[in-house]
Amino acid sequence: MPQNLKPSSLFLGVNIDHVATVRQARYRQEPDLTHPKVEPDILALALAAEKGGADGITVHLREDRRHIQDADLFRLREAIETRLNFEMACTDAMVEIALKLKPKSVCLVPEAREEVTTEGGLDVLAQQSRVQAVVDAMNAAGIVASLFIDPTMAQIEAAKAAGALAVELHTGSFANAYYSDGRVQATETLKQASAHAHAQGLIVNAGHGINYDNITTIRTIPELYELNIGHSIVSRALSIGLEEAVREMKSLMC
Ligand code: PXP
Repeated sequence: MPQNLKPSSLFLGVNIDHVATVRQARYRQEPDLTHPKVEPDILALALAAEKGGADGITVHLREDRRHIQDADLFRLREAIETRLNFEMACTDAMVEIALKLKPKSVCLVPEAREEVTTEGGLDVLAQQSRVQAVVDAMNAAGIVASLFIDPTMAQIEAAKAAGALAVELHTGSFANAYYSDGRVQATETLKQASAHAHAQGLIVNAGHGINYDNITTIRTIPELYELNIGHSIVSRALSIGLEEAVREMKSLMC
């Protein structure tokens, strides 16, 4: 087992897409997103997340630009002190942006316009050569490529075969089952997938639907390296502010 893949405590990537969702609800037509009237200021909030203990900032540039905008990416990369994790679809246009942006890491996700959020993992098996080409481009540029996949043995093996250094296991099914009788089974599925991915030498991350309740189960999975959490933290931030919401989540991760 590659021991060097495990940090002393879980890393937290704070996904700030939904901060931009609020901004875009009002300022979709605004050409200058740095104008003082434009709120919320996603850069200020990314810095607040870092102050609260975020180990990285995660953003997803969607094809329809419904929340994060291209200009946000470059402002964030310049200003944040931690790592920028760029979630992107496997398209030529996104590859071009990633190579210009040069984030610390990218996470390759599926994208369907009609989805409100990312609903399923990337089907690596079904598009192995395309995924491999994108991973190769990222590896050549020194960008860590992670694949957002469902927690199945077949997808993990396909991710490894595609040359990815990391996977992000999709925790949506686990999160949905958490408040039902399916919790034990969904936890077991996640545990087995994490162990399998780690045994393959992959860095094992997880994300989607992780909240202040289910984190108490997620944190017991020893192979996990980094969690990417957005909706729950941003929701809690409406009551207590983002810095404190991140601090609280981070304290639950230890
Ligand atoms: N990881 C990936 C790859 C995502 O696409 C998302 C957003 O759906 C997240 C993590 C964060 O999910 P959530 O907002 O449910 O915490």
